[in-house]
Amino acid sequence: MSNQRDQWSSSLGFVLAAAGSAVGLGNLWKFPYITWDNQGGGFVLVYLACILLVGMPVMMAEIVIGRFTQESPVPAFEKAAKSLPLEKFWPIVGWLGVISGLVILSFYAVVAGWSISSFYYCLKWTFSGYSPDDLKFGDFVGNGPLQLGLTLAFSTITAFIVTRGIAGGIEKATKVLMPVLLSILVLLTLNSFTLDGAGKAIAFIFTPSPMKHAEQGILEALGHAFFTLSLGMGAMITYGSYMGKKESIVKASVAIVLLDTVIALMASFIMFTILFSFPSVIENMGKSTAGMLFVTLPAMFYTEMPFGNIIAPIFYILVGFAALSSTISLLEVVVSLFIDKMKWSRLKATGTAAGTIFLFSILCALSNGGSEWLTNFKLFGQADSGFFYTLNKMFFADKAGFMNAFDHLSANWLLPVGGFFITLFVGWVFPAKSTAAELGMLDASGNPTNAFKAIQFSLRFIAPLAIGYIILKIFLGADFT
Ligand code: PFF
Repeated sequence: MSNQRDQWSSSLGFVLAAAGSAVGLGNLWKFPYITWDNQGGGFVLVYLACILLVGMPVMMAEIVIGRFTQESPVPAFEKAAKSLPLEKFWPIVGWLGVISGLVILSFYAVVAGWSISSFYYCLKWTFSGYSPDDLKFGDFVGNGPLQLGLTLAFSTITAFIVTRGIAGGIEKATKVLMPVLLSILVLLTLNSFTLDGAGKAIAFIFTPSPMKHAEQGILEALGHAFFTLSLGMGAMITYGSYMGKKESIVKASVAIVLLDTVIALMASFIMFTILFSFPSVIENMGKSTAGMLFVTLPAMFYTEMPFGNIIAPIFYILVGFAALSSTISLLEVVVSLFIDKMKWSRLKATGTAAGTIFLFSILCALSNGGSEWLTNFKLFGQADSGFFYTLNKMFFADKAGFMNAFDHLSANWLLPVGGFFITLFVGWVFPAKSTAAELGMLDASGNPTNAFKAIQFSLRFIAPLAIGYIILKIFLGADFT
């Protein structure tokens, strides 16, 4: 099987495809609004620490497993753990990743669909003048049939590309898209400096202010570090499995993490500058700040920015593409499992995976007002105190609605738990020499270098202890009475 596998044609190809998976709605949509909701600077600092101390080593660990085994996550763990302690347990971590992929994609496709409608509105505004009242965000997300249509459209495009195999297609596409996305973001960032709110935005992002709900905020920062780097569910194992043996995993990981972090910070700076410059924009966001990417930016494009009316539709195409290179990797994790485990054809595997995920997407698409029941849904009921309330609070931060619940559960629980076991496996179980060899960190006499020992320390202690500590804190702090 492994000799039929595609390979990225170059190191740059891998970096851009993996960065394409990492850079997505997490950077452009989610990071700005959770930073806003968590009062800025303090949250950003914790997030950056999580990226550096936990995200970076986990990224290397995942790529090591993928490239070493040249398999998708479940068979990768079967192969890597052969004859090692707890041999039967580790593939479960691969299965957990598949479930996370399913959960994430089901709500991600809904938000990705919003980029299609934003593109449509921008075209309309470019030709017939900007009218912010066209897009009342609350009404838009509450329009059930429209949400279903947009989600279906985006899911179909994703499935279509995955049926065609990823290496040649994605690699070629991301090589063009990522540089263009970055250029447009740089342009928007430069433009933001000309606005009054720029200073306030920088202060908001970089002044370490205390978080209102520190523990939940720290878990959210950690969870987002996993989400934004596509870690904890085997996406990087899958992409790593297409990587040639000569490429440097360390250099690639550093490049992916840097690109992802810089893009998230730029997106936040751009959006907060608009919010601080035109406070009235906040009103249009509706109750939830989740609409920021789709509500705040048009205000800047059409009222403040030279050539904004040309850039606006292009920008939303790019948001769509950034999302697409992420949805492809999410679907690929599930599809590659069906192909490897069930020996299905790529077409059958993709159809089955995408069809099943779409059923869950329906629940998410209708949970922002489309269906009252789904919008108010809480897995453990509506109580506002006691045991079941505590469960809702612990696992879903007491958020109502299917989409919010899926989002919270996957980013804050499934990915960190998956990442926890991946670090334990690579740190403690998988032979250190094999890891060092994959990372190119053996010295002339075949011993692991000091740089490797630093990475190993992080995989053995810092990353699992940080994740374990936060999860334990939340369990212990829970009030079940
Ligand atoms: N990293 C993507 C983003 O930030 O939008 C989301 C994602 C893609 C998460 C792929 C997990 C994954 F496996």
